[in-house]
Amino acid sequence: MRSARWQAVVLTLFPEMFPGPLGVSLAGRALESGLWSLQARDIRASAMDKHKTVDDSSFGGGTGLVMRPDVVDAAIGAAQAEAGADLPLIYLTPRGRPLAQARVQALAEGPGAIVLCGRYEGIDQRVIERRGIEEVSLGDFVLSGGEPAAIALIDACVRLLPGVIGDAEALAEESFERGLLEYPHFTRPAEWQGLKVPEVLLSGHHEKIQAWRLAEAEKTTRERRPDLWSRYQAGRQQSQGYVS
Ligand code: ADE
Repeated sequence: MRSARWQAVVLTLFPEMFPGPLGVSLAGRALESGLWSLQARDIRASAMDKHKTVDDSSFGGGTGLVMRPDVVDAAIGAAQAEAGADLPLIYLTPRGRPLAQARVQALAEGPGAIVLCGRYEGIDQRVIERRGIEEVSLGDFVLSGGEPAAIALIDACVRLLPGVIGDAEALAEESFERGLLEYPHFTRPAEWQGLKVPEVLLSGHHEKIQAWRLAEAEKTTRERRPDLWSRYQAGRQQSQGYVS
């Protein structure tokens, strides 16, 4: 059982980016009703000199600035002291391990997270190692900073919190829950620009519909995500008692 509300603490040089999209719609309503809390803390408030310096040039050369380990460490310490709970520390970076739904699920089941956003070239590696920070990537592309990634990560967690989405069945059916991408959806009108909704979906035959949806999910996964498809097949063979 969760003892208190899920806590998101974001360490950023741009606290004005929050709540941003997290203040709207599903996440926003859940925030307002107290199902989770959000605090955006300015890393610059932990700077130690009168110019409030947070970054410096990269040792070894190269363009771009690196965020200082002492400043980032102080910002983390201040966030931890205030959080009053032992929250996992996550740094969003294209160098991180790719985020997947299983990690999102585990985070949502925990007390929350402290999410560190980098700008410039990144953060001095020593503070990442000393603090044991988990490095997480949203994918093989580069954002201008960690903030949009933090918003995406927090959104993915918040929607799984109890009470945020009323229909638990919808969560069980969605992409990645069974290791597959989701089947396609259709709504009215049943015919649009000469295109008909697949007949089986209008049949009212629940088992046939389930079988069609599974077949579609498998087809799409096989075509688009060979990585997920191999894992799914391996899992299926195991559950059927095959030896590979
Ligand atoms: N920061 C910049 N690019 C990123 C990415 N792809 N994933 C997570 N954080 C990032």
